[in-house]
Amino acid sequence: MNLFTNKALVVITCPKRLAPYLEQEVTDLGFAIEKKFLTGVWIYGTINDCIKLNLNLRCASQVLYSLKKFEAQNADDIYQNLVTYPWENILPDPGYFSITSNVNNPTINNSMYANVRVKDAIVDRLREIRGTRPSTGAALTGAVFNLFWKNENAEIFIDTSGHSLGRHGYRKIPGQAPMLEALAAATIYATQWDKRSPFVNPMCGSGTLAIEAAMIATNRRPGLFRTDYAFMHLLGYDESVYLQEDALLENQIIDVPGLRIIATDYSARAIENAKKNAIAAGVADLIDFAVCDFADTEIPADVPGIVYVNPEYGERLGDVQKLEATYSRIGDFMKKNCRGYFGYVFTGNFDLAKKIGLKPKRRIEFYNSTIDCRLLEYELYSGSRVAPKEEQ
Ligand SMILES: C[S@@+](CC[C@H](N)C(=O)[O-])C[C@H]1O[C@@H](n2cnc3c(N)ncnc32)[C@H](O)[C@@H]1O
Repeated sequence: MNLFTNKALVVITCPKRLAPYLEQEVTDLGFAIEKKFLTGVWIYGTINDCIKLNLNLRCASQVLYSLKKFEAQNADDIYQNLVTYPWENILPDPGYFSITSNVNNPTINNSMYANVRVKDAIVDRLREIRGTRPSTGAALTGAVFNLFWKNENAEIFIDTSGHSLGRHGYRKIPGQAPMLEALAAATIYATQWDKRSPFVNPMCGSGTLAIEAAMIATNRRPGLFRTDYAFMHLLGYDESVYLQEDALLENQIIDVPGLRIIATDYSARAIENAKKNAIAAGVADLIDFAVCDFADTEIPADVPGIVYVNPEYGERLGDVQKLEATYSRIGDFMKKNCRGYFGYVFTGNFDLAKKIGLKPKRRIEFYNSTIDCRLLEYELYSGSRVAPKEEQ
């Protein structure tokens, strides 16, 4: 059986609350969704399909290809079920692999133990068949196998990604409190930006939102910046399939004449870093950067677009008091300077959000890591109609 051309269940995972955006991306790539769940979607596909998914998806974490589903009451059952699996058809000789897992079983209080039993099973099988022992370790630089084990239901996957796809590879200098690139992309999808009108990002920090906006508008995919995936370390890997998908990424980049993306921050250091990140992403010439207070950011007047701010949320009291004034100024800025635009504020502090003083049209739920966050949408009316006030 050739895994590269044989269809199996493929589970594509993502951070919590990104699944609807991931689902849309997977559908847009031409795959039929079999099932959705809180942190991902299922499809049926080959490893060659997984190559396409790895290179193209912005909102995913991992692309997992299912090898075997089985019942396991305890870790010995895991070993017994996996020691008979033909790993010699999957791992090159000599080979290196790592194990990751997602374990919730009453007999296991440390998932590392489950990982060790998976590793033992694969090593024992290969030593028996080949007479040589593959090397193993925690670094995700070779083949990766993922164990999903909940109660007595176990499933073993090839993790075709390795390192998470949530990072898009261009951000060399993260700066302060940067957004995960997958989250930044999903929030831009959530705005329903038309990819043509101005995208203005005051308080841009390391530039993630502006860079993701430029990438989305010009159809640049994360695979353009990454050259190592776990699927490359499987037996039977055909580099020409990867190179073909990679060439497609270059060919599908589009030019958007007149596109205005503006990114500002009052920190000169942040702008310097954001520019370096934009250069790495190949979109520096698409973004106008400036060092200024957010309220002095240029707002193009001819065609209204979106203005998207990700201010700090404040963890210490002193910070929160200072930020109250900042959030209130964000409201004034949007009301006075951004008429006709849709305004967005991404924050994890709902009390501070009230200081904006505008009534959100939508409150879209996200998590930033474990912090419950909202993307607040404000319709900033032009002319005499003013944006409604938030009730305190
Ligand atoms: C939470 S960070 C933004 C992170 C960004 N989304 C990223 O992914 O890197 C907030 C940014 O707002 C900037 N900032 C804070 N107050 C500002 C102000 N009054 N005017 C302009 N920028 C400000 C900070 O320098 C910081 O870079």
